[in-house]
Amino acid sequence: MRPRLPAVAGPALALVAGVLGLVAAAWSGPADEHRHDGWTAAEKATLASMQLSRLAEPPADPSNAVEARAEAVALGRRLFSDTRLSSNGQVACATCHDPGREFQDGRPVGQGVATGRRRTMPIAAAGHGPWLFWDGRKDSLWSQALGPLEDAAEHGANRVQLVRVLQAHYRAEYEALFGPFPSLQGLPARASPLGSRDERLAWQAMPPAQREAVNRVFANLGKSIAAYERTIRYPDARFDRYVAAVLRGDTAGQQVLSAQEVDGLRVFIGPGQCATCHNGPLLTDQHFHNTGVPPRDPSQPDRGRAQAVAAVLADEFNCRGIYSDTPRASCSELEFLPTDDPAMEGAFKTPSLRHVAGRAPYMHAGQFGTLEEVVAHYRRAPAAATGQSELVRGGSARADRIPIRLTDTQARDLVAFLRTLGPAPAP
Ligand code: HEC
Ligand code: HEC
Repeated sequence: MRPRLPAVAGPALALVAGVLGLVAAAWSGPADEHRHDGWTAAEKATLASMQLSRLAEPPADPSNAVEARAEAVALGRRLFSDTRLSSNGQVACATCHDPGREFQDGRPVGQGVATGRRRTMPIAAAGHGPWLFWDGRKDSLWSQALGPLEDAAEHGANRVQLVRVLQAHYRAEYEALFGPFPSLQGLPARASPLGSRDERLAWQAMPPAQREAVNRVFANLGKSIAAYERTIRYPDARFDRYVAAVLRGDTAGQQVLSAQEVDGLRVFIGPGQCATCHNGPLLTDQHFHNTGVPPRDPSQPDRGRAQAVAAVLADEFNCRGIYSDTPRASCSELEFLPTDDPAMEGAFKTPSLRHVAGRAPYMHAGQFGTLEEVVAHYRRAPAAATGQSELVRGGSARADRIPIRLTDTQARDLVAFLRTLGPAPAP
């Protein structure tokens, strides 16, 4: 690799870089290949595929007819931070998904009306994957939003209470989107098929038509929140600036990464094998893998995806259910969902690595406090507590994967690279 400017920031460097930029602009061209960071054409194609600018709009979700309506976005934004949608009047989505903290909370596991089992996930670009949650037990953003509202550790609310809050505070906004609010006459104070014993009994005692009317308002609540969530995006990272500079042959522009960070990027797409799972503009394959991350509670290892498949198929708010706005036939993700894949035991969704340095701790239950620990885990490749880790341990080999062998320098470079996935400073 060619020598680079020392990695010092400041006006002097900016000036030098500016001058080099002018020179490079005057000189650049095909004959100038040797001035780049030495990426091959194939590597450049890989880098290009990881640029945020390659990310299309989130795929349309036909099961949510209002997802593109501005009124739904506005309503969803308000609902997202409304603490009245909780059992104790103190918890909103934004309590855990704090817009000032990458829409998460920096805790190992979520803390709502009680303490949860898994780590809060960021929300930006969540609509790009077919499955929501660490285990993918929901198949749409709107259906996902219904989960925390009735989760005993999160909002702890029940759907009849939620419908009442909507009617009391958002009736006009609701009716503009979804039509007349149903009558709530004769409804019990609290009822839900998922709540406490009393709430479940109260739910069973309601006539079917009334339960369906409540469910429909509940689903529409989720659809409004989903419309808002769809608008939450990642901004460009320093890494994206670098790739853009590489692709246009702008040597000065490439200085936005230090030599160490560029070395780390080489490890990421090369010997680290990271890009085999963390790929595309969001640095995730949107799939589930068992990577042997130690469970928080070894006596009760989290089975992850293996337990979620039945849940999403049985969910009355899934794509095939009566509250979905799409015909059953178009729910191909559910149609072709394998129900007995042994690789899903202990598997979790590959998280996006965008902005990753800003949201420690890491993994599905915050098992690792630092990026250094994450990289050490991949080098160690421990056996999984449940199921089989896809990572190969030193000494063994498999057709599809070899051990991730990194020197200490490579491990440090890799961490330095991961820090370039955060927001770019103003140009
Ligand atoms: C108590 C904290 C807490 C509250 C409150 C909360 N969440 Fe979450 N959120 C979490 C946790 C923890 C997970 C991961 C849970 C799991 O995988 O089982 C999560 C996952 C998600 C995901 C999945 C992201 C992905 O990429 O798959 C979305 C979207 C989301 N929450 C939206 C919401 C919305 C909308 C609300 C309000 C209705 C909400 N959350 C309320 C903690 C919370
Ligand atoms: C076999 C697929 C696979 C490979 C290879 C892989 N990852 Fe991961 N990565 C995952 C999955 C799955 C998770 C979530 C695991 C969990 O929570 O149990 C994850 C989680 C992470 C996290 C935590 C992010 C967060 O928000 O919690 C980081 C950082 C990370 N990986 C970096 C890397 C790096 C660096 C490499 C290369 C050395 C790598 N990964 C290789 C699949 C993979």
